[in-house]
Amino acid sequence: MYVCVCMAVTDRQIREAAAAGARNLKDLRRDLGVTSECGSCATYARRCLAEANESQRQAARAKRFPEIETPISDSRHPRESGEPPFGRL
Ligand code: FES
Repeated sequence: MYVCVCMAVTDRQIREAAAAGARNLKDLRRDLGVTSECGSCATYARRCLAEANESQRQAARAKRFPEIETPISDSRHPRESGEPPFGRL
C-alpha cells in the first residue's frame, strides 16, 4: 500500500528501509524521499517504520531468548490444564 503518494513509496519499501537501518523519519526522507513534498504522509510513515522496527526487535529477541518468547496461549493456566484452581482436595 502506498504510504507516500507524492514519492510513490509503499509500506514494503519502508519495511525494507527499516531492515537496512532506517530508524527515524529523517532516515526515511533521506533514503526514500518520504515527507519531502506535501508532508501529509509523516504520521503514517512514522507508524510504519515504528512497527517495522518493533517487529525486528521482537524477532531478534525471540532468536536470542527463545524460552522467553513463549506465546501466552501456551501458558498452563490451571483452568486450561483441567486441574481445579486450588489443587485437588
Ligand atoms: S504524501 Fe508524502 S510527501 Fe506528500
